[in-house]
Amino acid sequence: MEFKRTNMCGELRSQDIGKSVVLMGWVGKKRNLGSLVFIDLRDKTGITQIVVREEDKDNYKKAREISQEYVIEVKGSVRERESKNSEIPTGDIEIVADKINILDSANTPPIYIKDDDDVSENLKLKYRYLDMRKPSVQKNLKLRSDIIRTAREYMYEHGFTEVETPFLTKPTPEGARDYVVPSRINEGKFYALPQSPQLLKQILMIGSLDRYFQVVKCFRDEDLRANRQPEFTQLDLEMSFANQDDVIEMNEGLIKELFDKYTDYDLELPIARMDYKEAMDSYGSDKPDLRYGYKIQNVSEIFKDSDFKVFSDNTLEGRSVRAINFKNLADKYSRKQLDKLTDFVKDYGLKGLSYIKYQEEIQSSIKKFLTDDILEKLKEALNLEDNDLVLIGADKDKTVLEGMGALRRKVAKDNDLYEKEYALCWVVNFPMFEYSEEEGRYVSQHHPFTMPNEEDIDLLLTEPGKVRTQAYDIVINGDEMGGGSVRINNSDLQEKVFEALNLTEEDIKNKFGFFIEALKYGTPPHAGLAYGLDRLIMLFAKTENIKDVIAFPKTQSATCPLSEAPSPIDDRALNELSIKLDKE
Ligand code: AMO
Repeated sequence: MEFKRTNMCGELRSQDIGKSVVLMGWVGKKRNLGSLVFIDLRDKTGITQIVVREEDKDNYKKAREISQEYVIEVKGSVRERESKNSEIPTGDIEIVADKINILDSANTPPIYIKDDDDVSENLKLKYRYLDMRKPSVQKNLKLRSDIIRTAREYMYEHGFTEVETPFLTKPTPEGARDYVVPSRINEGKFYALPQSPQLLKQILMIGSLDRYFQVVKCFRDEDLRANRQPEFTQLDLEMSFANQDDVIEMNEGLIKELFDKYTDYDLELPIARMDYKEAMDSYGSDKPDLRYGYKIQNVSEIFKDSDFKVFSDNTLEGRSVRAINFKNLADKYSRKQLDKLTDFVKDYGLKGLSYIKYQEEIQSSIKKFLTDDILEKLKEALNLEDNDLVLIGADKDKTVLEGMGALRRKVAKDNDLYEKEYALCWVVNFPMFEYSEEEGRYVSQHHPFTMPNEEDIDLLLTEPGKVRTQAYDIVINGDEMGGGSVRINNSDLQEKVFEALNLTEEDIKNKFGFFIEALKYGTPPHAGLAYGLDRLIMLFAKTENIKDVIAFPKTQSATCPLSEAPSPIDDRALNELSIKLDKE
């Protein structure tokens, strides 16, 4: 570089006319117009037009040589543009080049550097450094940095200390598979990358840190979705001498600050709380999207004695008939579209879906079973009006609720039924365990360090399915943004919970021995929470794809097209780790 940069490429305006400036950046568009060459010079802040005149022989020669994505420095003076461009903030001015230096040449880029470029995700991620030059990616990465800064400052202001916890550690059970790392020095032994810093943050409370937070990478080997990455970032926190209300209050302050800074929405506190049971019963999800209504209703009673066996057989204990009244949508759905909805719910385990189009002449897949009495009761229960579309499913509670919940989200999305821009709630009173058919035992709904509700402790070993916990999730627009709980701070109770989970004494000792030991040396009551920070940033960036807010995300198959990780390692490295691959 011959010069010192004076300005960024998005900065100069008409009040700068006449100034001598130095800009540096990448060459976007270049146009030759007779005796002039126009160059769009780009950096992270925007674009400035550079003009090179034929009479400036040296510069003109260089400008003709320069091609897209070359890195250059330009010294020149700001002048008013003859034909102004109102589309960009610097559109009133241009720089007449006195001196141009090429700082680096560039190969022809394999993707266009523009936001509406329609290339495959794989190609974008392979050339992420080019993709990153686009304004949308720059904007999201800057937003990410700003949000993290706001969160950090909030935590510091409220007496939290940021502590880093190790990545080479023991497994932390959060419901996914672990990523493991073999130890060379300790042959045959493995570290697990943390699914979360759960145990260590609790140990920090035992260590009297009082309030901890961390912006931390977590690693989970699980099926990926639009809002899941194998490595993602948590804003993780823990508070001593705090209960559920204390944690919720502290976090509502943070959420409010983020909404105030990053949206135009005036969030009202406190955020409403909803029982897990209500969330499941009315919305078929533990992360209910409350931007719209269309609650699921239990209509089992109405169909109990019906001649339609599919429904009447599903009204016994643990099974039910559930309906949603999609108001005023009957004429929007043809038979064919209703068949598609039936196929959709089949993916969720429902065997079928019945419909009633409540119009002058009722159309229904179960018309012959709709007696006057049933219709009258449905009308009252579902508040039926002309042109309503009622969809009904019947099955085991869990299956029918999850299926109808998914249907509710789909119909809302397909018809843009959203009534609010943002809808937040805390879901509380989660069950402690859920029965895993796959494993044939109860597993933790949250994690095994969660404090059971006091009145349910006696049920731990006798009726684990009925135990509720002091756990809470913050749900925004139907996405689980974070979750936390009050923790067990007593080693006997902790051991009892492990017992309820059917862990053997050997298992408990190997996996959590160090933790149970720590709990015996004076553990303060404590509680905490962790946000999926990427998801929060997605919310404020208004994107549904988590990859948009991560600099180097992984693909759906957990690979990195840029670095080509994961990749094989050579035999020597394997030998050193005493690992033999079963190559068959
Ligand atoms: P939990 O497992 O609920 O709790 O995780 C906290 C939050 O992290 C986000 N999240 C993810 N984000 C992107 N990709 C993923 N694969 C992924 N998995 C989870 C979610 C979730 O709400 N230790 C506890 C917290 C605590 O009890 O304090 C924990 O990790 O937004």
